[in-house]
Amino acid sequence: MDDLYKEQILDHYKNPRQKGQIEPSDYSFEDENPLCGDFLHIDLKVDEKGVITDAKFEGHGCAISMASADLLLESLLGKTIEETKKLSKEDILDMLGIELSPVRLKCALLSLKVTKAAAYELKEADDNLME
Ligand code: FES
Repeated sequence: MDDLYKEQILDHYKNPRQKGQIEPSDYSFEDENPLCGDFLHIDLKVDEKGVITDAKFEGHGCAISMASADLLLESLLGKTIEETKKLSKEDILDMLGIELSPVRLKCALLSLKVTKAAAYELKEADDNLME
């Protein structure tokens, strides 16, 4: 089972579906993983009902952080901003489906932090968003 998830992670890392920028976007945020300096920028576009119609990311980082961003943004299409605010660490870990060490956990949760900060329209990132 683990191998299947690893394959999925590598596939999203090598062939990201949601890579790019949205100009103009409705919600944007960017931040880095302080442990390694890897960086993630996320743009979201919503319709008049607050439903996410497009979600894109740019950045550089390890396979886990980039695949997690791609999987997360793909899963957001059709969801609302309010639903995005309720995402949890478990949602991301379920999507990735592999056991992660504490360091790798930070890699995986960078996308959650940046996406939720965008949804909440924060000016500064907050580590509590990764819970
Ligand atoms: Fe930097 Fe994973 S090593 S985000």
